[in-house]
Amino acid sequence: MLNEQTIRIIKSTVPVLESKGTEVTKRFYEILFTEHPELLNVFNHANQKQGRQQTALANAVYAAAVHIDNLAAILPVVKQIGHKHRSLGIKPEHYPIVGRTLLTAMREVLGEAATDEVLQAWETAYGIIADAFIGVEAEMYTQAERQAGGWEGFRAFRVERKQKESSVITSFYLVPLDGGAIATFEPGQYVSVKPEMPGETYTHIRQYSLSDAPGKPYYRISVKREDGAPDRPAGKVSVFLHEHVNEGDTLWLTAPAGDFTLDTSDSRPVVLLSGGVGLTPLLSMLKTLGETTPDRQVTFIHAALSGETHAMRAEVEELARRYPGFSYYFCYQSPTAADREERTFHKEGYIDLEWLQSVVPSPDAAFYFCGPVPFMKTVNRMLQSWGVRKEDARYEFFGPSGSLEEAGEPTAPAQR
Ligand SMILES: Cc1cc2nc3c(=O)[nH]c(=O)nc-3n(C[C@H](O)[C@H](O)[C@H](O)COP(=O)(O)OP(=O)(O)OC[C@H]3O[C@@H](n4cnc5c(N)ncnc54)[C@H](O)[C@@H]3O)c2cc1C
Ligand code: HEM
Repeated sequence: MLNEQTIRIIKSTVPVLESKGTEVTKRFYEILFTEHPELLNVFNHANQKQGRQQTALANAVYAAAVHIDNLAAILPVVKQIGHKHRSLGIKPEHYPIVGRTLLTAMREVLGEAATDEVLQAWETAYGIIADAFIGVEAEMYTQAERQAGGWEGFRAFRVERKQKESSVITSFYLVPLDGGAIATFEPGQYVSVKPEMPGETYTHIRQYSLSDAPGKPYYRISVKREDGAPDRPAGKVSVFLHEHVNEGDTLWLTAPAGDFTLDTSDSRPVVLLSGGVGLTPLLSMLKTLGETTPDRQVTFIHAALSGETHAMRAEVEELARRYPGFSYYFCYQSPTAADREERTFHKEGYIDLEWLQSVVPSPDAAFYFCGPVPFMKTVNRMLQSWGVRKEDARYEFFGPSGSLEEAGEPTAPAQR
């Protein structure tokens, strides 16, 4: 346990660290990758370049520091991060490296404010925060390995089927090369995928949500191709998967992880809202609801750019035909002439609260949503203003977690 004096010092330094937080973590990563270049095999380089991971780490460390005398209060956050760490293979031996580097970065950035007393207090506090993570992750490693069909680390999977789902999204059906059983998962969970990419200096690992229901002899992931634009390079892994990974090829996967999961103990109506490729975890939930609680009232709302980029439409229509409690609505940002002719969508433009209230009877429901960050900010704001309880609005970031609370764009562009 920390003594009163240490807690006081930690709490008194949080404001200055928060104001310089991203500076500290930016320097932290510079030092980390200089001294431990092998860690470039695990970290996502694009997240680094865009500063998303720096912000996520800074927020998490300072949130932990604020609650240093009651870490149980942030256990859900520790678990969410723990899932990501476990899925990437972060181990206890990595924690002292991060601790030492964080202290060096603090000393450099804070200058005179980083007295010996302050650094000593942070060293002690980091040890306690790290122990909380290590403890949570140890349980996750045990569970991942010991469950039926579970395994340790990365396991080789063969692409059994590659299926184009839209102009930008392609599914990969994956079966283990060793022919063994595969672990079940909770709908909404993801796997970390490591492709074999010739010519790359480092390995590149990405997370992909499982897009089919559990209980199949394969895992299915559905990947959106992140093409380049004048202001940004093409996505490394998604483009590689689309262009170079074919049926018969090998991908390396860690066991399913993640806390964005369907609460099956809730019998109230469910509303699943997705933008673009954010539909993958929600489709898994939809299929599971059909198989396990077909009488539950479910509304599936999906926003896409147009019918061309809209993936797995037929699967949703088929489920709605089979289960009378299911309804679905497709919202196209820019419908094509063919979309208009075939009347393939229910709403043109962005989702707004008035429209949402016209298709969802009550805010007393379980809401799950996923999509581009501006889409999620808009949905979150709508749900809040409708009076949906915070605990009834669950969401997943397809990148390092951030906040949905700050002002977002007024609309929900680029459902891609
Ligand atoms: C829990 C979770 C679940 C996910 N599920 C899915 C899923 O089901 N399907 C799916 O398709 N994706 C999913 N993702 C996203 C996925 O993990 C990858 O992030 C995505 O495929 C892009 O990876 P990439 O390697 O192609 O792009 P990266 O190379 O990682 O680049 C990502 C983006 O950053 C941009 N970028 C890269 N470098 C720079 C730079 N220097 N300056 C400016 N911009 C830059 C790229 O243009 C690209 O748009 C999920 C992510 C998480 C965390
Ligand atoms: C107490 C210490 C730590 C804290 C507070 C912390 C916090 C975080 C947070 C907030 C994220 C983002 C989670 C998300 O995606 O939502 C994250 C991801 C990650 N963490 Fe940690 N972490 C810690 C220790 C470590 C250690 C020791 C390592 C290993 C060197 C590590 C490696 C990673 C990696 C590789 C990711 C994914 C990054 C990416 O996708 O770019 N972390 N961590």
